[in-house]
Amino acid sequence: MLHDIIVDTQLPTEMIAMIGSECTVHIWPADAADPLFDTATGVLTYGHPRVDGALMDRMPNLKVISNFGVGVDHIDLAAAQARGIPVGNTPHILDGATADMTFALLLAAARNVVIGERFARSAEFTHYDPKLLIGSEVHDATIGIIGMGNIGRQVARRARGFDMTVLYHNRTRNLQAEAELGATYATLPELLQRADYVTLNVPLTAETRGMIGRAQLQQMQPTAWLINAARGGVINHAALVEALEQGWIAGAALDVTEPEPLPRDHPLLHMDNAIIAPHLGSATRQTRRAMAQLTVDNLKAGLAGSPLPSRIA
Ligand code: 8YV
Repeated sequence: MLHDIIVDTQLPTEMIAMIGSECTVHIWPADAADPLFDTATGVLTYGHPRVDGALMDRMPNLKVISNFGVGVDHIDLAAAQARGIPVGNTPHILDGATADMTFALLLAAARNVVIGERFARSAEFTHYDPKLLIGSEVHDATIGIIGMGNIGRQVARRARGFDMTVLYHNRTRNLQAEAELGATYATLPELLQRADYVTLNVPLTAETRGMIGRAQLQQMQPTAWLINAARGGVINHAALVEALEQGWIAGAALDVTEPEPLPRDHPLLHMDNAIIAPHLGSATRQTRRAMAQLTVDNLKAGLAGSPLPSRIA
């Protein structure tokens, strides 16, 4: 019998081929009464659709939820656990790509790459002007990494290559990262006060939701940049708009927002001191291929009732 798999996004054809002929892949039905929910044995989440207990209860034959990505804030893990449904994700293989993107944003912010690119294409660029878009240095500056997990450590490695002073804040001190990467632990206020670039590399949890709000933004230096390649919900966006309008910080470079995408009339989309990317953290050919393979391996293992190669719950 063929497995009915429900996905939230049109999958790339290579991924459908990987899933194989024993499965039929369906796009998430709009109607909760759709009979597909009764027969579905697998769910593959590619974007970040909400998967909660009520949805799981709508799928009596569900054997596995396989998430394309490491962040599982959109899946109720406790509900899955309570129902004995294994959840797979794709940690480690995207650490390097996400750290690269963090640095891409940091460098773009420091050196006015985005605003400069817009200017260079415009009719206003008529002559070389030595006073134009003077940025801030990255080498020898201080980076403050919030979240010294797998991705945070990769960010620290890149920062060392730029001769940066590396501060980090984490729930628990990471002595190995301190020894290996020369990173110095700081309390959150200390890190915010000292860093020229604050990067967010934490998962979105009840603890990290809104952890950067008015009080934290006011602790940052007026010349400092906030870089977010984690989840939009870590920052209170209303507070960020205020910070950018009032000049509490120099700017923000965001690969993620909440909601995602932002409404087209959102003030962040119209500010020169904000850089917004469309969630590209893991978007390299190599990383996405590896993620696709692990997502499919998790899915197939769950359908076969075998241990998932990478199980988060
Ligand atoms: C993924 C991500 O591309 O892994 C994650 O948590 O945010 C991204 O790298 C995304 O989850 C796929 O939609």
